[in-house]
Amino acid sequence: MAGRIPENVLEDILGRTDIVEIISSYIPLKKAGSNFKANCPFHHEKTASFMVSPERQIYHCFGCGESGNAFKFLMRHERMEFPEAVETLAKKAGVILPDQDNPVLAKAASLSTQLYKINELAAGFYKNNLHAASAAAAVKYLSDRGIKPAIIKEFHLGLATSGWDGLINFLRSKNISLALMEQAGLILPKDSGGYYDRFRNRIIFPILDMRSRVIGFGARVLDSSLPKYINSPETPIYTKGRNLFGFNLSKDFIRDADCAVIVEGYLDFMIPYQEGIKNLVASQGTALTLEQIKLLKRYTYNIVMVYDGDTAGEIATLRSLDILIDEGINVKVVPLPKGMDPDTLVRNHGVDKLKVKIENAVSFFDYKLNVLKIRHDIKDAHGKAKIASEMLLTINKFDNAILRGEYTKKLSEEMAVPQQHILEELHKLKPKSAVAVPVPQPAVLAVRQPEINPAEKLLIKFMLEEAELIEKVMQQLSPADFSDPRTARIVSVMQDLVLQGKNIEPSVLMNYFSEDDASQLVCETMFMPPLADQEREKAINDCITRIKVQRLKSRREHLHIQIKSAQSTGDEDKLNSLIQEFHNLIKKGD
Ligand code: UTP
Ligand code: MN
Repeated sequence: MAGRIPENVLEDILGRTDIVEIISSYIPLKKAGSNFKANCPFHHEKTASFMVSPERQIYHCFGCGESGNAFKFLMRHERMEFPEAVETLAKKAGVILPDQDNPVLAKAASLSTQLYKINELAAGFYKNNLHAASAAAAVKYLSDRGIKPAIIKEFHLGLATSGWDGLINFLRSKNISLALMEQAGLILPKDSGGYYDRFRNRIIFPILDMRSRVIGFGARVLDSSLPKYINSPETPIYTKGRNLFGFNLSKDFIRDADCAVIVEGYLDFMIPYQEGIKNLVASQGTALTLEQIKLLKRYTYNIVMVYDGDTAGEIATLRSLDILIDEGINVKVVPLPKGMDPDTLVRNHGVDKLKVKIENAVSFFDYKLNVLKIRHDIKDAHGKAKIASEMLLTINKFDNAILRGEYTKKLSEEMAVPQQHILEELHKLKPKSAVAVPVPQPAVLAVRQPEINPAEKLLIKFMLEEAELIEKVMQQLSPADFSDPRTARIVSVMQDLVLQGKNIEPSVLMNYFSEDDASQLVCETMFMPPLADQEREKAINDCITRIKVQRLKSRREHLHIQIKSAQSTGDEDKLNSLIQEFHNLIKKGD
């Protein structure tokens, strides 16, 4: 992680940064004793297990184990790379990064930064194309679709012309390497060698992130050829399911309205937005992802879904409903007539028509039941069973017993079936948590590490709290005596730092670990309850003794194995020396 930016600079930045201020600008923190707590932003939970320590300047979640310092928080929460998190906090703290012109640093600091820059250049290039005389057909297309010039400007729309290398040549003239253009997803390699522009002969819709940086592009044909849209591939700065089109423009409107209207497509966003419905986001086709929902949750818990009136829209709505309800969102749906989408509705019937539909959005219950009634016969016993089982999957996502009661009652009335039968079916389902939609978890969470010896953990906590202790411990133990690679690594780094007379505060210490699990452990130990002074001394000695006993035990076990193997190979000399060693060890152990 570190190494490129001098540690003292990182320390300086951390010293002028308040992690509580940083984190609370993203999620609400509540005071809890000397710490702050919140619902963890990195995993789904109902009770707060995410802790922030103003004293230690670190955070740790007891639920998912995510932890770190202020840099790490920005990396995880804002998906920044380390150098970008450093830059962000340095700027905020007024620390000037010393080696901006160090080429190694510049390179590391900037893969993302360079990709943003390239995308911005590309967006400018496409935008210019749209103003060229040759762009008449594209301009006409946009005006035929009812997109006004102000919106073309606000969304930075552009045009990719029909050549194979227009963008390549432009970016080359700006000294951008082909390798970077490819990493930005803007060009593709030819079979015959060389590259060609990915987007050709299409209207360009730049995709901006929440901070209005261009992270990718959508590109639409001007006629009815296929594929209708092509989009940027996943790149280091663009993941489709993590982004909501238009959110940079609409987030404040969403907060003010305390409601977000979710649509599918670029045009479904732009046309209603142009006509005055501003609290919108577009999921860019298909069902919402958990990550998109998490973004929205920072602004509102009220969502109205207005997906296309076709089968794909219906399926996507049903899938999204389950995820939204699982996330505790209050969700409603606007069902659109067949063949309609928000864009055509507004253009054909006016924006007020859509406004009224949004105001009269139906509950998940009514929407889903209506869809199911079309798919199955609600008068027939088997049809009822099918409808009930589908409805119950969603009803089961509510935690609240009263809501579950109300919905099962309503379902029994709608289907003319005793509520008792519905409840019986509901009870057959696994508890909510067990049927939750599988959510891709970060790799760190997927791999559960083996338990660490509590004595090692505790001793590390004591050493972190009291630097003088480190030398004392190191006279008796070496890093290799710690049986877990994480504790061994932490101890070894602490030892090195103390020898160099450096600061070992936890928030600084973790700049030296590239592995997540070592810094996670540091944070975890810091949130362990403190011991009273009189217990402390004894606990420290206990820990040291236990680690020694454990060291002895594992050496014995090791020798035992070696002795057995010497016995089986009949190596007398070796056997004798091993047995001697074994006796010495036992004597020492007593
Ligand atoms: P739609 O097919 O509903 O397109 O896809 P649309 O937005 O109504 O397009 P227009 O009105 O014909 O221009 C909805 C969204 O799904 C994604 C795009 O984000 C699109 O806006 N999509 C669709 C693709 O990524 N690729 C496709 O080929 C089609
Ligand atoms: Mn459309």
